[in-house]
Amino acid sequence: MPGYPGAVKPLVPPGVYAPREDTALLVGALHDEPLPDGADVLDVGTGSGALAIEAARRGTHVTAVDVSWRAVCTARLNTRLAGLRVRIRHGNLFAPVRGQSFDLILANPPYVPTPDTGRAPHGAARSWDAGRDGRLVLDRICREAPALLRPGGVLLVVHSALSCPGRTLTHLRGAGLKASVTRRRVIPFGPVLRSREGWLRESGLLSAPGQREELVVVRAELPV
Ligand SMILES: C[S@@+](CC[C@H](N)C(=O)[O-])C[C@H]1O[C@@H](n2cnc3c(N)ncnc32)[C@H](O)[C@@H]1O
Repeated sequence: MPGYPGAVKPLVPPGVYAPREDTALLVGALHDEPLPDGADVLDVGTGSGALAIEAARRGTHVTAVDVSWRAVCTARLNTRLAGLRVRIRHGNLFAPVRGQSFDLILANPPYVPTPDTGRAPHGAARSWDAGRDGRLVLDRICREAPALLRPGGVLLVVHSALSCPGRTLTHLRGAGLKASVTRRRVIPFGPVLRSREGWLRESGLLSAPGQREELVVVRAELPV
């Protein structure tokens, strides 16, 4: 976790996503949000619980969800070690919080374009594998998150420029939200992208030379 700006460095067992540059970019965006005491925050795809911890340290009421039991147990341990109360639920995206609403939703979902294997992502790869266009989970977030926001509520979602931020903006604006890219960072390819570079270029999903990708944070606010 070198360079991770969170005040608490969570424990990360094998198979759970260690906070990386995307987590760090979202932590920065979270710190920019003026959150009232007691605001209700959802961290969807919580992994180690890194973002949930950063939000709970601000005095908010945090609910965190992950589809991986290993991540759920890790996040429970990390929030407990940090002395913070966070409700951590196992389940698929927004299913465990159906009927609830939030002032802020944080999402660092899987977003790496993935060759078609005919099987759903499984194991550790559920943290990054996201279908051919990288939007398997992103499109669901764009579709489902707006209904969970309170008036004035904000969705902060981080992903790669390889998985089409323009579509994220279009979907969220179409749902009536005020959406824009508020943070960007160019980073070197990690091991997953390095291993897929040939396929990405052959498929026309990557045309820029070099082994760098841009990460973006999309901020989308439901008008009051
Ligand atoms: C890129 S990791 C992010 C982890 C953590 N939020 C962070 O920023 O370090 C994505 C997480 O989303 C979880 N995930 C993937 N698909 C999901 C789904 N459909 N519902 C809930 N969680 C999901 C993965 O298990 C993984 O923990």
